[in-house]
Amino acid sequence: MSVLSVHNLIYGYSKGTPFETGALNGVSLDFEQGEIVAVIGHTGSGKSTLLQHLNGLLKADSGEVLFEGKDIHSSKEALRNCRFNVGLCFQYPEQQLFESTVYADIAFGPKNMGLSDDEIKNRVYESISFVGLTEDYLEKSPFDLSGGEKRRVAIAGILSMKPKVLILDEPTAGLDPVGKNNLLQLIKDYNKKTGSTIIFVSHNMDDVAVVADRVIVMNKGKVELSGSIEEVYSQGEKLASLGLDVPEITTVFLSLKKAGFDLGDTAFTVSGAVKAITEYLKGENDG
Ligand SMILES: Nc1ncnc2c1ncn2[C@@H]1O[C@H](COP(=O)(O)OP(=O)(O)OP(=O)(O)O)[C@@H](O)[C@H]1O
Ligand SMILES: [Mg+2]
Repeated sequence: MSVLSVHNLIYGYSKGTPFETGALNGVSLDFEQGEIVAVIGHTGSGKSTLLQHLNGLLKADSGEVLFEGKDIHSSKEALRNCRFNVGLCFQYPEQQLFESTVYADIAFGPKNMGLSDDEIKNRVYESISFVGLTEDYLEKSPFDLSGGEKRRVAIAGILSMKPKVLILDEPTAGLDPVGKNNLLQLIKDYNKKTGSTIIFVSHNMDDVAVVADRVIVMNKGKVELSGSIEEVYSQGEKLASLGLDVPEITTVFLSLKKAGFDLGDTAFTVSGAVKAITEYLKGENDG
């Protein structure tokens, strides 16, 4: 059984007004325990809207969301269970931080879960260190932090609930290259350590290639493409027609191919490129 599934979700904003939009137009997906899934797509394609359905923050006009096989809107308990197990980090962390201290913000989820004070404290300390911030931050106001720090605190506030499914809406937006790489590593580490499913949105095709096991491409409120990195990224023309670019490294390899150096079509990351070049040179030497 999939840990999380959506069946034929349809959702529009501003219903019954001239501004009505069809933000989701029939989306069906299954997410398996332990996989890392990237959701990509042009701006306005429905990525954030989809994510907000996965923990019941938005309720579809029709269709259903199943967490561990149970419709999350079937009862109050089912929705509560989903909220504690499917942690969603918003695209804009400001929308998620509201307590007067970082400690209180990170403790908010575990408190709602009814955990003991000792357990809450343990989880706050564990989470703040996991996102790479020192304990000095705990007494600060979340509103005095930089954008990158706010994002880390917002993520810590979700991690403290130890969700089975961690959902991150553009977690690396606005971070410098070092901060970005740290965060991508954090995503991988969390997945490895806990076996949690991770679903994240990114506009950066290079980041997606480094982290994700599987990619979903959204377009106009529908799933346009879905598959492994190789399956999706090898469709360069299709991606371009959806307003998406293949990773820079892939562009370089395509140029090399045109110049007579055929290094294959499957280098989407730097490490993949190193491997392909090494094999190519080995072939040259052997030949
Ligand atoms: N609060 C809202 N009220 C009305 N329309 C909205 C609202 N939020 C999103 N929309 C519309 O719904 C559609 C999908 O938006 P959504 O935010 O899900 O896209 P997205 O893929 O996350 O885009 P981005 O990459 O810019 O974050 C867009 O047409 C958008 O204008
Ligand atoms: Mg969005």
